[in-house]
Amino acid sequence: MSAYAIELIDVHAAYGGIEVLHGVDLVVPEGALVAMLGPNGAGKSTTLKAIDGRLTPTGGCVHIAGRHMNGASTKQLARAGVCSIPEGRGIFPNLTVEENLRMLTQLHADLPMSEVAERTYARFPILGQRHTQLAGTLSGGEQQMLAMSRALVSDPSVLLVDEPSMGLAPRIVAEVYDVLRQLAAEGITMLLVEQFAQMALSIADYAAVMIQGQIVTFAEPADLGDVAGAYLGASA
Ligand SMILES: Nc1ncnc2c1ncn2[C@@H]1O[C@H](COP(=O)(O)OP(=O)(O)OP(=O)(O)O)[C@@H](O)[C@H]1O
Ligand SMILES: [Mg+2]
Repeated sequence: MSAYAIELIDVHAAYGGIEVLHGVDLVVPEGALVAMLGPNGAGKSTTLKAIDGRLTPTGGCVHIAGRHMNGASTKQLARAGVCSIPEGRGIFPNLTVEENLRMLTQLHADLPMSEVAERTYARFPILGQRHTQLAGTLSGGEQQMLAMSRALVSDPSVLLVDEPSMGLAPRIVAEVYDVLRQLAAEGITMLLVEQFAQMALSIADYAAVMIQGQIVTFAEPADLGDVAGAYLGASA
């Protein structure tokens, strides 16, 4: 048994022949929250894609729960207990909140819709009030809650989240982080990509800094030192 929920060894990935990941080495220990930080275009989202199977690495190894899984299928991923919330949140804008939840139920045939709705609306009452509203017309914060309800429903052991605070007002970011903190406290392993470095570091066990397609620093937030300031900006 590996002590790593996720392990990337020398992972390379490309878009149309242009390589953007140049040998990524990264571990996410079981039960830990790793924040992946770095400038725009560094390859953070691409790294998540290489893990969740949206992109098949051109080289190297992706290990999930100790198993080699380069280019995992959605099914394999679900079986491994991995839930990925992509940039843009991965919800269906032209479906209502309830229909979005129904789609989630279909992916998890063992859960009746009534229970999905109950769990979701208990955690996010605002979604209950807006269950007939088109997801695309929800506020950014509400959309993020809907996206996170996927994670709650599928009961994952590993959660990959790409920029959950994107476009949200600080008060809403704080709410989203309350949920992430709670999920982490429940023992869910997390790989969190975030622009709001400070926010992410406040809940992270480890920080991984990615620059130009490689992880250049992996440290506990307290030991990050000047790297955060140098690469992530004073406001980050
Ligand atoms: N679908 C794509 N086709 C071609 N190039 C892409 C594609 N997606 C990303 N890239 C390129 O790959 C590089 C890494 O992009 P990626 O989205 O992984 O960066 P990121 O670290 O997530 O950046 P950001 O902080 O802006 O979200 C960038 O140079 C980007 O232009
Ligand atoms: Mg990105």
